[in-house]
Amino acid sequence: MELMHRALLTALGALSVFYALVKISLGYWKRRGILHEKPKFLWGNIKGVVGGKRHAQDALLDIYATYKGRAPFVGFYACLKPFILVLDLKLVHQIIFTDAGHFTSRGLYSNSGGEPLSANLLQLDGNKWRTLHAKSAEVFTTTNMQKLLPRLAQISTRIQSDLGKMDQQTCNISELVGAYNVDVMASMAFGLGGQDHQEFAKWSSRYWANFKLWQAYLALEFPLIAQLLRYKSYAEPAMAYFQKVALSQLQEQRRKDRQPLQTFLQLYSNADQPLGDAEIAAQAFGFLLAGLGPLNATLGFCLYELARHPELQDRARREIKKTLDRHGGQVTPEFLRDLRFTKQVLNETLRLHTPHPFLLRRATKEFELPGSVFVIARGNNVLIPTAAIHRDPEIYPEPERFDPDRFEEEAKLSRPQASFLPFGDGLRGCIAARFAEQQLLVGLVALLKEHRYAPCAETTVPMAYDNRRLLLAPKSDIKLSVEWKD
Ligand code: HEM
Repeated sequence: MELMHRALLTALGALSVFYALVKISLGYWKRRGILHEKPKFLWGNIKGVVGGKRHAQDALLDIYATYKGRAPFVGFYACLKPFILVLDLKLVHQIIFTDAGHFTSRGLYSNSGGEPLSANLLQLDGNKWRTLHAKSAEVFTTTNMQKLLPRLAQISTRIQSDLGKMDQQTCNISELVGAYNVDVMASMAFGLGGQDHQEFAKWSSRYWANFKLWQAYLALEFPLIAQLLRYKSYAEPAMAYFQKVALSQLQEQRRKDRQPLQTFLQLYSNADQPLGDAEIAAQAFGFLLAGLGPLNATLGFCLYELARHPELQDRARREIKKTLDRHGGQVTPEFLRDLRFTKQVLNETLRLHTPHPFLLRRATKEFELPGSVFVIARGNNVLIPTAAIHRDPEIYPEPERFDPDRFEEEAKLSRPQASFLPFGDGLRGCIAARFAEQQLLVGLVALLKEHRYAPCAETTVPMAYDNRRLLLAPKSDIKLSVEWKD
């Protein structure tokens, strides 16, 4: 009996400590006297998101719409973790540009000891990120990106041969664009030759196999403990495969001389301040991690919108054909520069279906908002709700309407600064934005120049997103009917 009493008391004691800890965590914004969304026990303000009932971007959009105009930022909780949600575009501008020195961290988990490929530009913070960023900036120059264009154009020919092989009218667009983007990653980030990248594709879809939201959450909250416990974010066989491919391609590359510059591996090892092989391998994986999902999503969403707006699709196709004729059928930097309307279509896709619905920063120093009483404390996690900004009716009237003319030069200039950030910006913005735009345009040219797309019985309208992912992706594969158009 006494034993049972003791067990009961211990359980009660543990529960009380747990309850008190939760209450303390969820009292952070109240103690600081900051306007905040009232949290629910344990889940904070993202209950539906954790259960997969709604997408994170919708939860953020609700908070943004409720509090915008009342303060420069509002506090909220992702489970027990306090976050600042920025509401004011001036503050967005300060955080990513003018005062970016206070916000150089992103606060993601990286464990370079146990998982060497996690030492990449996306995941690192602090001095390690700073050094790597300086060396990477030397690689991602306009001139270097242009050197990669011929290889991109060559890879994009697979799109037409895949379309040519199709014997039915209904096309799985997600698979079609996925195969192109995987080929680009295999070939340009990892240096793989040839055309058959099936094994690479297999591991690219499996490295998240062991992902558990609660483990990732604990790793973010207690990174030192996670490192001590050797927590790994990605599946080990996938990491072993990517590491082996990158290192062996680097060696192979050294054996051959005088090759044309066609891969990021070459650009990194030929740089004035070259990285070591292990560091280059980590960057190759970082590119796959940061780039593949958003590229697939953007090309898929773009074709989906064009299928639903045939007049815009015809306009883009006409522009592509005319411009190709003017440039002798060659995909050159000048040709891409002249695709003005097609670029507007891409930007409107990135606005309406923003692949990264938010940007993350962590304050590395206390930041007093100029001319106000507000302070962002050192260590505060800051979230910039880009998808909510892109759908704000005061900035983009009728935000649900797909209208590429919003990106005509004059219309763009009429909008406030920091109102369009699909690639983030400033110090921690997407280092590959120019390359990604180039890859998307080259892909669109191959997709549109000879084929026409339309919704079919298997097309999901309206678009449904996958709530289990933080980045935006369609809930199921995008399918459209496709026909040859000469
Ligand atoms: C549609 C395609 C893409 C989109 C929409 C996109 C968007 C983004 C965004 C929003 C960020 C965070 C920016 C910030 O916090 O301010 C980012 C970071 C990054 N992206 Fe991209 N990205 C795309 C493609 C790519 C590709 C193809 C690569 C690599 C070849 C890449 C490499 C990176 C890296 C390395 C970072 C981290 C930069 C740093 O923290 O210093 N991205 N991207």
